[in-house]
Amino acid sequence: MCPKGGRASAREPVARLAFLCYNIDMIKFTIITLFREAIEPYLKSSMMWKAVDKGLAEFDFVNLRDFGLGPHKSVDDTPYGGGDGMLLRCEPVFAAIESVKEKDPEAKVILPTPVGEIWTQSIAREFTFHSGPRPSGPSPRADGANSRAAALRNAPDQNVNSHYIILCPHYEGYDERILSVVDYKVSLGKYVLTGGELPALIMIDSIVRLIPGVLGGEKSAEIESFSDGDNLEYPQYTKPAEFRGMKVPDVLLSGNHGEIAKWREAHSGKVAD
Ligand code: 6GU
Repeated sequence: MCPKGGRASAREPVARLAFLCYNIDMIKFTIITLFREAIEPYLKSSMMWKAVDKGLAEFDFVNLRDFGLGPHKSVDDTPYGGGDGMLLRCEPVFAAIESVKEKDPEAKVILPTPVGEIWTQSIAREFTFHSGPRPSGPSPRADGANSRAAALRNAPDQNVNSHYIILCPHYEGYDERILSVVDYKVSLGKYVLTGGELPALIMIDSIVRLIPGVLGGEKSAEIESFSDGDNLEYPQYTKPAEFRGMKVPDVLLSGNHGEIAKWREAHSGKVAD
């Protein structure tokens, strides 16, 4: 059931075991952006750096400006029909994506956009166990990008080295024809950001930390908030047992594992909806 020796939580019903298999050996992200400097420091810190160091993740950058047009290497222009702001043009974006796909035709393109599917823990998990995300719920827009996401859902579980291209839009938006080369549109929530760099980091972080071996304690990713879909983590404490009059609950100091498990279960939250 878990072909690559993947783990599954003992607490899970059998029906969910397949869902919890981890198939990937490593994951690669190629980030197409105008603002590499806004992204790179985070990926060179802490857990993301450790994942790279252990060979579990790889991050690459493509500078969209390198594919810009004319002497100014322009990547955007004004919208047909009028309106404020500038839109990313097709030519530089297509050329940048093609430059990556030339080397790896299997790489899938993710577009962070406020009209994408809302990112969740269960979607992040899906990136760690097969070659593409499984869209949940109706798509905000019926177009090529999301029907291709449905195709990814049925992809066989044989891709052990997954490669995703994250195209970070900037300015006020993008030419709609860019969606013809996008496999999956993702939104971080119901608000608007100035670009795709923060969403790219959030997606990458939430995926990479789930790859077995990235977090130190092998249980940490499993008990983490949201890891089972809708369980919130229980309250935790460390030394000292009393701090400024605030005491650690007695049961946690008792050494009684049965009681501790019961207490934790009782104090785990649930996501409202
Ligand atoms: Cl993915 N992009 C932008 N620009 N704004 C957002 C978002 C993404 N998710 C929420 N707001």
